[in-house]
Amino acid sequence: MLIQNLTDLQETIRELGLAVPLSGNLPLLAEPVQAGTRTLPNRLSIQPMEGCDANPEDGSPSEMTLRRYARFAHGGAGLIWVEAVAVVPEGRANPRHLWIHEGNVEAFRGLVEKIRDAAREKTGQTPVVIIQLTHAGRFSKPEGVPAPRIAYHHATLDAVHQIPAELEPIADEELDALQDAFVRAALLAWEAGFDGVDIKGCHRYLNSELFSAVDRPGRYGGSFENRTRFMRETVDKVREALRGEMLLASRLNLFDGLPGGFGCSGEDGLGIDLAEPLALCGQLYDQGVRLINMTMGSPYYNPHVNRPYNTGGYEPPEHPLQGIARSLFLSGELKKAVPNMTVVGTGFSYLSFLSPYLAAGIVEHGLADVAGFGRQAFAYPDFARDILNACMQIQKGYTMDPADVLDRSKCCLACGKCTELMRAGKITGCAVRDTEIYLPLYREIRKRKPSQPSVS
Ligand SMILES: Cc1cc2nc3c(=O)[nH]c(=O)nc-3n(C[C@H](O)[C@H](O)[C@H](O)COP(=O)(O)O)c2cc1C
Repeated sequence: MLIQNLTDLQETIRELGLAVPLSGNLPLLAEPVQAGTRTLPNRLSIQPMEGCDANPEDGSPSEMTLRRYARFAHGGAGLIWVEAVAVVPEGRANPRHLWIHEGNVEAFRGLVEKIRDAAREKTGQTPVVIIQLTHAGRFSKPEGVPAPRIAYHHATLDAVHQIPAELEPIADEELDALQDAFVRAALLAWEAGFDGVDIKGCHRYLNSELFSAVDRPGRYGGSFENRTRFMRETVDKVREALRGEMLLASRLNLFDGLPGGFGCSGEDGLGIDLAEPLALCGQLYDQGVRLINMTMGSPYYNPHVNRPYNTGGYEPPEHPLQGIARSLFLSGELKKAVPNMTVVGTGFSYLSFLSPYLAAGIVEHGLADVAGFGRQAFAYPDFARDILNACMQIQKGYTMDPADVLDRSKCCLACGKCTELMRAGKITGCAVRDTEIYLPLYREIRKRKPSQPSVS
């Protein structure tokens, strides 16, 4: 469904009986917001999104990476959440995955400086810049062929990704050593000048998969305490190593949406049970984490859960607005359970030019503190500036027509082409709006596989 206007959208929300608050109080989005020791100059965020364009020799940011982030920074979002960066080479999801190590910390410093300079030049403000640290676990593909490291065998995911039954889950000793790799990477990120560090716990990558490792024996499986051990011990070690220098953050799955998943109930895993995810968020707050970017699902298994779309690899089992309503419900529950945690909400791009009204709605209703935009940022990196300009007009007393806040011709179409590029092993961006770079690449992959549907 392509959204036509605000009235139609409100009508559809009503017909579906959903709690999706829209608000015209856009100036809320221009307010500064505190996350631990850092102040975000506004409530708009660029979500972490892999561009798969690192230098393959050493995992450092390439010219294409710098281009992407300079465009995001020019746009004026108060928070720039840099995509998944591997802490060890074998934990990369593709050969062009960013990877931070002693040999390329200067290149990462260049990336942070580029972001800050670009933002100051265009907006006069300095965004908060977070790095997302990861091990891709089950989805590792460092040399371009799958090299999975699993927390445990999962019947559904093993079948989808053809994981051999004889593959040994990652050993406890390797997880112990991996905690230290996260600490090393966090220290390097500090040296490179990032404001904050995200110990990634989402989308069923390694750390996220451990959260539901009920049948795994040993220190990292079984009880809730054991399943969250990797996360909690890593956060403790990172905090101690950084001695308060950086903002501690996490992109966290509150709901996996699959059988036996974290935050899930029922045989199909589609029921929601937030007892464990919220308990984890509370513990992380007590450990010093002050920013959670909430999310759901796994892009390799149920992408409609995290990225409601118009066109994708399969017909989604629900209306995209139901996915958005679920996301808002989860983030609202997190805000209720841990009110002092600064929360980034997710999944707004589907609403295209009306997404600012949802962003203002979630802030007004206390469902999140910051609105994170993913695909919209690939398509329309200046979206934040246009929203902030509209806020200024409203504050001066002008009435804004919803069609004039964002330029509809620049908005994300939720068409899944960015993900399709990624899955095809290409560098990733918007083939519809950033055509000079990404359209020729997209044409190449469609030529190769013309009959394949677009995936999201
Ligand atoms: C191409 C692509 C790459 C992504 N890479 C990451 C990533 O590195 N880390 C992450 O936490 N989420 C990643 N995501 C998910 C986004 O951060 C975001 O949650 C998702 O796109 C939904 O938000 P949206 O509706 O605004 O696009 C990625 C999404 C896309 C489309």
